[in-house]
Amino acid sequence: MTQRLRMASVILLAATIAAPALAQGDAAAVYKSKCAMCHGADGKGDTPVGKKMGVRDFHSPDVAKESDQQLFDITQNGKAKMPGYKGKVTDDEIKGLVKYIRSLK
Ligand code: HEC
Repeated sequence: MTQRLRMASVILLAATIAAPALAQGDAAAVYKSKCAMCHGADGKGDTPVGKKMGVRDFHSPDVAKESDQQLFDITQNGKAKMPGYKGKVTDDEIKGLVKYIRSLK
């Protein structure tokens, strides 16, 4: 009985931890493979390419002021030197990326 109870709580615990981590993990993987070379793993844009292109720190007040929708649009359609990702990542992935960008602070 105790054994079973312990088993159940372990499964429950694993499920609560795994669910959000999975959604985050996806966005984190896409970010790492497609965005980090310019924006940096921490979103500061502190990379050779990022510095050359003048990417803004995702933690800056300028970016904080922009709405999720604006960040979504920029990721989808691009802006200045930022390439658009329409067709390369799904809308859901972009939504995840925007959340991920916000969570980098
Ligand atoms: C080739 C380099 C490069 C890559 C790769 C890149 N970006 Fe950017 N990104 C930029 C530049 C440059 C800007 C600044 C555009 C401007 O405002 O002039 C920018 C701006 C942004 C902004 C708007 C924030 C701001 O500065 O106002 C968002 C959001 C963004 N990028 C998300 C992403 C995401 C998500 C990815 C990956 C799917 C990505 N970027 C990949 C270069 C890049």
